[in-house]
Amino acid sequence: KTSSNQQMLKAYTLAANFYSHLLLNTIEGEKALEYLENRGFTRDQIEQYEIGWSPVQSDALSSLLTRQGFDLKEMETAGLCFQKEDGSGYFDRFRGRIMFPIQDDNGMTIAFSGRRLEDSSSDAKYINSPETPIFEKSKVLFNFHRARLNVRKSGKVILFEGFMDTIAADRGGIGNTVAVMGTALSSHHIVKLKRMAKKVVICCDGDSAGWGAAKRFADSLIDSGMDVLVATLPDRMDPDDFIAQQGVDAFTEKILDQPLSYISFVAAYYRRDKNLSIDHDIKQYVHEVFNELAHRCSPIEKDLLIQQLHSETNASKESLGQEFTKSIARKA
Ligand code: CTP
Ligand code: MN
Ligand code: MN
Ligand code: MN
Ligand code: MN
Repeated sequence: KTSSNQQMLKAYTLAANFYSHLLLNTIEGEKALEYLENRGFTRDQIEQYEIGWSPVQSDALSSLLTRQGFDLKEMETAGLCFQKEDGSGYFDRFRGRIMFPIQDDNGMTIAFSGRRLEDSSSDAKYINSPETPIFEKSKVLFNFHRARLNVRKSGKVILFEGFMDTIAADRGGIGNTVAVMGTALSSHHIVKLKRMAKKVVICCDGDSAGWGAAKRFADSLIDSGMDVLVATLPDRMDPDDFIAQQGVDAFTEKILDQPLSYISFVAAYYRRDKNLSIDHDIKQYVHEVFNELAHRCSPIEKDLLIQQLHSETNASKESLGQEFTKSIARKA
């Protein structure tokens, strides 16, 4: 088993080098290189993250692996290729995609995420390595090995949804970020985050999926005892979009340095789909917020929350106070 894992790790390293060479030094990689440059990637960053290009040809990597003496059956388990239906050979998992190596805590490449080039195409935007003996999605945070020291120094970790956001932030000198790569936040992830810092700033995309993810991350991280802040983005923008449009300084000043407390975030989350000029929506909003927060609030947080709801809804502080007390009684 161990020697088989060693082979898989060797194959991933070889594949990363192969893809990187194709991107940087061949005509085949030119379109992808241009795409990355248009998105603001520098040459340095492309090399540092070992970003590559998987050729369109169906067995480019498989035949390289064969020539290098790898067992393709094992490479199929590693998620790099598939055996053809008729058993006549193998074809590559990643074809015609920009390749982002996913690295473990020591910086070893253990998986890939491959992005399609054309945003118009109907193919999946990303294709990822499957779960393998060397890659357990729930244990990996993108950029962990690079961010670790920066997180310790700054005392906080910034948590994104996508690795593009991490790379964009890093380009502007923000090095204490990791990304979950679209998955759920597992208990392994939480242990890792907690070991690095007491404080986490969650910064998910400004769409519904992003708000949902931020809510789930915030709930699990607050339960784990971390200090949780949530930085929110304008509608339908993600951190990478914001940095591309306004620059990294604006991102720091307007987004990262203006986060919501956990309590204000939960309120903002429930306010999102409400029209607070409608009585019914006000009632539901107050109910949802208190139901979730009343039993967590310190006396000062209670005052602040009631003040906030008062100014948002025009409900009196007295009646809000009564609703607050009722919510606590319901939980007790
Ligand atoms: N993801 C995935 N498969 C998809 C879509 C998303 O695995 N079909 C994962 C990727 O790891 C991605 C993360 O979810 O990094 C966040 O998704 P999304 O916000 O859609 O990607 P972006 O990082 O914004 O990518 P881009 O800017 O290139 O559109
Ligand atoms: Mn998203
Ligand atoms: Mn995104
Ligand atoms: Mn994006
Ligand atoms: Mn008032």
